[in-house]
Amino acid sequence: MSEEKLLILSFLFIAGQIVVDASSLQNDKDVLLELKIFLQDNNPFNRGRYTEWSNSSSPCDWPGISCSVNERVTGINLSDYNISGNMFGNFSRMTELSVLDLSQNTIEGPIPDDLNRCKNLRHLNLSHNILAGELNLTGLTNLETLDLTVNRLEGGIQLNFPALCNNLVTLNMSFNDFTGRIDDCFNECWKLQHLDLRDNNFSGPIWSGFQRLREFSVSENELTGEISPSIFTENCTLELLDLSENHFDGSIPKEVSNCKNLSFLDLWDNNFTGTTPSEIGTLPNLMTLLLGKNRLSREIPESLLNLTQLVFLDYSWNSFRGDIQEIFGKFKQLQHLVLYGNFYTGGLTTSGILKLPKILRLDLSVNSFTGPLPVEFSEMPSLKYLILAFNQFNGSIPPEFGNFSALQALDLSFNRLTGKIPPTIGKLTSLLWLMLANNSITGEIPREIGNCSSLLWLNLAYNRLSGTIPTEISNIAQNPTPTFLSNRNSSRVPAGSGECSTMGRWIPTNYPPFHFVYSLLSRKSCRSIWGSLLKGHPIFPICSTGSMVRTLQITGYLQLTGNQFSGNLPPEIGKLHNFTLVHVGMNNLSGQLPAEIANMPLMVLEVSYNGFSGEIPSELGKARCLENLDLSHNNFSGEFPASLNNLTQLSEFNVSLNPLISGTVPPTGQLATFEKESFLGNPLLHLPNFMNGSSSNRSPPPPSSYNTKKTGMYIFLGFLVLTSTVFATGVLLRLSLQP
Ligand SMILES: *[C@@H]1O[C@H](CO)[C@@H](O)[C@H](O)[C@H]1NC(C)=O
Ligand SMILES: *[C@@H]1O[C@H](CO)[C@@H](O)[C@H](O)[C@H]1NC(C)=O
Ligand SMILES: *[C@@H]1O[C@H](CO)[C@@H](O)[C@H](O)[C@H]1NC(C)=O
Ligand SMILES: *[C@@H]1O[C@H](CO)[C@@H](O)[C@H](O)[C@H]1NC(C)=O
Ligand SMILES: *[C@@H]1O[C@H](CO)[C@@H](O)[C@H](O)[C@H]1NC(C)=O
Ligand SMILES: *[C@@H]1O[C@H](CO)[C@@H](O)[C@H](O)[C@H]1NC(C)=O
Ligand SMILES: *[C@@H]1O[C@H](CO)[C@@H](O)[C@H](O)[C@H]1NC(C)=O
Ligand SMILES: *[C@@H]1O[C@H](CO)[C@@H](O)[C@H](O)[C@H]1NC(C)=O
Ligand SMILES: *[C@@H]1O[C@H](CO)[C@@H](O)[C@H](O)[C@H]1NC(C)=O
Ligand SMILES: *[C@@H]1O[C@H](CO)[C@@H](O)[C@H](O)[C@H]1NC(C)=O
Ligand SMILES: *[C@@H]1O[C@H](CO)[C@@H](O)[C@H](O)[C@H]1NC(C)=O
Ligand SMILES: *[C@@H]1O[C@H](CO)[C@@H](O)[C@H](O)[C@H]1NC(C)=O
Repeated sequence: MSEEKLLILSFLFIAGQIVVDASSLQNDKDVLLELKIFLQDNNPFNRGRYTEWSNSSSPCDWPGISCSVNERVTGINLSDYNISGNMFGNFSRMTELSVLDLSQNTIEGPIPDDLNRCKNLRHLNLSHNILAGELNLTGLTNLETLDLTVNRLEGGIQLNFPALCNNLVTLNMSFNDFTGRIDDCFNECWKLQHLDLRDNNFSGPIWSGFQRLREFSVSENELTGEISPSIFTENCTLELLDLSENHFDGSIPKEVSNCKNLSFLDLWDNNFTGTTPSEIGTLPNLMTLLLGKNRLSREIPESLLNLTQLVFLDYSWNSFRGDIQEIFGKFKQLQHLVLYGNFYTGGLTTSGILKLPKILRLDLSVNSFTGPLPVEFSEMPSLKYLILAFNQFNGSIPPEFGNFSALQALDLSFNRLTGKIPPTIGKLTSLLWLMLANNSITGEIPREIGNCSSLLWLNLAYNRLSGTIPTEISNIAQNPTPTFLSNRNSSRVPAGSGECSTMGRWIPTNYPPFHFVYSLLSRKSCRSIWGSLLKGHPIFPICSTGSMVRTLQITGYLQLTGNQFSGNLPPEIGKLHNFTLVHVGMNNLSGQLPAEIANMPLMVLEVSYNGFSGEIPSELGKARCLENLDLSHNNFSGEFPASLNNLTQLSEFNVSLNPLISGTVPPTGQLATFEKESFLGNPLLHLPNFMNGSSSNRSPPPPSSYNTKKTGMYIFLGFLVLTSTVFATGVLLRLSLQP
């Protein structure tokens, strides 16, 4: 064949193809333009980039669309495109579609039957939406990846598996409401490598074929029964095994040591009994071993010391008594040692754990340790998080505690500590979080605390501290950035446990903006939130001072309630420009409430049960984001400031028992939305007439506080979606849609 002929022939061939495919591409384009209209109809605001899809160009050039070499639409990626409403019902008309990613939107309703006809789909990602109903994807037999994480899908899954099994490699159904058994579903999924079923309501026995996967998680389900030793065959390929938070019982099979590639083993919160199998010590790659919240025996096998990669060891809540086992002092490689929730009474120094060279996090909270705090803690060179809450430590905080060069969190709350806060505390320039609440600490707050340039979260509540609050307190947290940056650079901490209980104490549960986080914690997303906090990733929707515009920031708190502080609240406190919560209630503070406090981006101001006098500063009306304001039980006098009516976000307000306050509460606006209980015991203060009547025949106030909360919620939501904080998002999505 001459070259010429060849050329002509191949030209004809190509041309022919173009003609055929172009007509099909036209069809794909028509469907996509229908999709665009469908999405625009459902999403009048905040539209994603599908708005750029234009009839005048090829769909292969549109954002989110990909095509095959022969010009057919094969991929649609609308991940994080601000899509809400139902799912489009005509995807199957694009017959070559093989990749569909609709993750990170708020698509709702059932998955349409149409999707089940997209027979060429290989990759389907519907994660992070609010899809509901039962799952029927039996037609998608070519699927290799199916991600349904964080939706509201429910019902059993037996219809779909094994039907979908042929080609499936990755299956993620976590964070849904699936129910029923799993033991017979995946036997024929021969290619399956990653199976994540966590946080559903699956019940019955475990699927016994999981040893041939690389990752298997059934955490947070209702599975029961024993883990049969025969599951772990010689050829086990597991790298990650997470059986935590189920109801498994019996002993931990020693055959788990057949899984030589295992790097993460989480059996937390089951009902396992007996000893820790010594064979676990032969897993050369094991980094994380979480055995807490079981009923294991006190004997820890020496062989575990051979785990050279082990960085995270959790034996919390196992009812260990007496001294800390000496073996813990020999894990020289450990970075995280979590022993909270046992009944230890001693062994802090004798066990040698205080000499472990690499420990970053030591959590010994909720035990029965007594006596003075050992000075040796301060000699642990790598310690960043020291959590000793809920013990019976007594005596004073050793001055040597100022020597922790790297310390970021110190939680000594709920002990029996006395004496003064040592001035050396000012040396802790990386300290983000200091919790000394609920002890019997006396004396003044040392002025040196002002040197704690990272200290955003200070809780000294419920002690016997006295004297004036030093003006230097206004210097804390002036520059936490270096600490955040160092945490951003540090190596990835393996997911662990214990973060939730620690964070439960960190959070001022009842107060905005922190209560958002608390509602998340209860759904166990603590790990990612804890990480965000330490890295200074903004997670709270807070107001910029003097404005109602919310932006996401990291925000601090100052909790001094329940002490014996006297004198004035220093006006310099207004310099705490990253703090949203000031709680100084139940002290003996007096004098004027400084107007400067309104310079803070306050959401909560609690000054009740003190002796504040003079006028309530009208400047408080500038703190436009205040949601809780409690001025009750003081000696405020003078005219009630009408400017408080400008606090349109206020949802809790109390000015009771300031008998010298006079003036008038405006009959309309935000203040009129409160019951008369907010104004009791102020005989000179004129209330609107309706407040004095019985509260039952009032028309309900406008629900402005509700709106506030919602706005905050949605901003927060947006953030979580953006940062793909995988676990938290789903929870919030669920939360925000709860009636
Ligand atoms: C989603 O909407 C927000 C708010 O309008 C906008 O900032 C963002 O860019 C949108 N996201 C996308 C992917 O278009
Ligand atoms: C797109 O353009 C073609 C011709 O160029 C026209 O026939 C068709 O109706 C247009 N489609 C839409 C949705 O505007
Ligand atoms: C879709 O786009 C997002 C954001 O660009 C990207 O992270 C994701 O990997 C894409 N999905 C697929 C299936 O390629
Ligand atoms: C799907 O396409 C059919 C025509 O083939 C049309 O009647 C229907 O309205 C389309 N559905 C959606 C959701 O666009
Ligand atoms: C699905 O999408 C989410 C969010 O975009 C992403 O984090 C996840 O990795 C995707 N799943 C798979 C299996 O690629
Ligand atoms: C699942 O979907 C297929 C195809 O769409 C349908 O034929 C079948 O009846 C459905 N099964 C159930 C139980 O709804
Ligand atoms: C679901 O699990 C798979 C496999 O572990 C993982 O690749 C994927 O990122 C997970 N999806 C989400 C949304 O986290
Ligand atoms: C693993 O070994 C078991 C028996 O020990 C065998 O039945 C199974 O086929 C093997 N699996 C693989 C994937 O080789
Ligand atoms: C653990 O097992 C014991 C008896 O074996 C039983 O009494 C107890 O209720 C179980 N606990 C849980 C949390 O399942
Ligand atoms: C640790 O490993 C070494 C070498 O593999 C072995 O000889 C020793 O017995 C192991 N120690 C324990 C306590 O199992
Ligand atoms: C602290 O507040 C300032 C000014 O409001 C802001 O620019 C900064 O980002 C905040 N810091 C953090 C860590 O959020
Ligand atoms: C409330 O705010 C508006 C606008 O910021 C201001 O003009 C007005 O004086 C304020 N009202 C009072 C009573 O301070």
